[in-house]
Amino acid sequence: MSKLWGGRFTKRPEQWIDEFGASIEFDKQLVEEDIEGSLAHVKMLAKCNILSQEEAGEIQAGLTTLLDKAKKKELSFSAQYEDIHLNIEKLLIDEIGPVGGKLHTGRSRNDQVATDMHLYLKKHVQTITGLIKELQNVLIVKAEKHVETVFPGYTHLQRAQPVSFAHHLLAYFWMLQRDVERFEESLKRIDLSPLGAGALAGTTFPIDREYTAELLGFSGIYENSMDAVSDRDFILEFLSNSSMLMMHLSRFCEELIIWSSQEFQFIEMDDTYATGSSIMPQKKNPDMAELIRGKTGRVYGELFGLLTVLKGTPLAYNKDLQEDKEGMFDTVTTVEGSLTIFAGMIETMTVKEQRMSQATKQDFSNATELADYLAAKGMPFRQAHEVVGKLVLTCIQKGIYLMDLSLEEYQEMSSLFQQDIYEVLDPYNAVSRRDSAGGTGFKQVKKAIQKAKDCVQQP
Ligand code: ARG
Repeated sequence: MSKLWGGRFTKRPEQWIDEFGASIEFDKQLVEEDIEGSLAHVKMLAKCNILSQEEAGEIQAGLTTLLDKAKKKELSFSAQYEDIHLNIEKLLIDEIGPVGGKLHTGRSRNDQVATDMHLYLKKHVQTITGLIKELQNVLIVKAEKHVETVFPGYTHLQRAQPVSFAHHLLAYFWMLQRDVERFEESLKRIDLSPLGAGALAGTTFPIDREYTAELLGFSGIYENSMDAVSDRDFILEFLSNSSMLMMHLSRFCEELIIWSSQEFQFIEMDDTYATGSSIMPQKKNPDMAELIRGKTGRVYGELFGLLTVLKGTPLAYNKDLQEDKEGMFDTVTTVEGSLTIFAGMIETMTVKEQRMSQATKQDFSNATELADYLAAKGMPFRQAHEVVGKLVLTCIQKGIYLMDLSLEEYQEMSSLFQQDIYEVLDPYNAVSRRDSAGGTGFKQVKKAIQKAKDCVQQP
């Protein structure tokens, strides 16, 4: 079997060399995009009188047959033909005869592969933003149920101040909102057609790049043919946006894992998202959350992998660029899978409200309330901080909490303390009173839920 590019060669490469160089094992995922790109190209060739209507018609019919077969998974590919582009061209020639060899007029695999990747990524970025929005909706529904569920807020993983559980969930809503915005913004750059850039320099044929761009649904074309065939920063941007998204999911996973522990018991995962142990009968492990946290590593790796591949490549195309694909495919699978699992996990988890609110009564996370109380009565905050710090120390020494000190004990430290401090110390009130914009006060959280809803409903 001869190579489609074999004319100037006197020797055939050995099979194992072919296999090393081939990308068909993974770029076969681009089969539909590849045929779609070819269909647009041939239509343009006919419109510009580069091919006759008859020739173009035959090629289009052949490509359509191949597309049908591809959808039914009936095509078989070979490493002998290296990649998806040459495999399709070979199958086309087998299907319709030598006229199939006219398809590649005025184009190169370099602009072809770039076109396939843009089509592929555009579709998947849209799927991913859709999945993020679904997850955001799940968070809103959960948040609506837990506006008044008070639970410990942490800094340094030490109890800090009580917060509304809804407020905590919504923090992730806004991170995800920025992720959506980043992905959507990146579409501007993905949505450009490299087709017609040729190998690197354009072509002598009177092609119409705008026409193929329009047929493929792109909103514009690459300005520079050398940039068009060698640009992979649209993939880097995707990997970078995915890394940030995965980092957000991973942080959330870490919290879900901690909250599921015996020590916290704030939530329980639904059985579907947990597994048991082969030895310890009591175990219920939050495997899916751990796995998403773990998979974040491979997405970061893929970003760094491609950055490194690209850093030394001169213009324009180099075979190194073939290494752009597996990381991109793997990231798409990882991100789409993680988002779907994550939404299900949040939707089905049990929130242990009692346990959460109980926790806020057994700590000193109401100490700031007391300092604010004194400051509101005119004591300089720094001094109030000192007074309350001393009271906390007394409690620690006695093994009690601030609620348990008598009014007399408070008044020994400052005559500003009155009976109403016990109201102020109540964690529920502590949350409710934080009514500053973007704070955890219930009124603010309700407003935030409304804003979040408006945000996801925007087209
Ligand atoms: N399989 C190649 C890739 O993925 C397609 C482009 C090949 N072009 C070339 N001149 N060898 O990058």
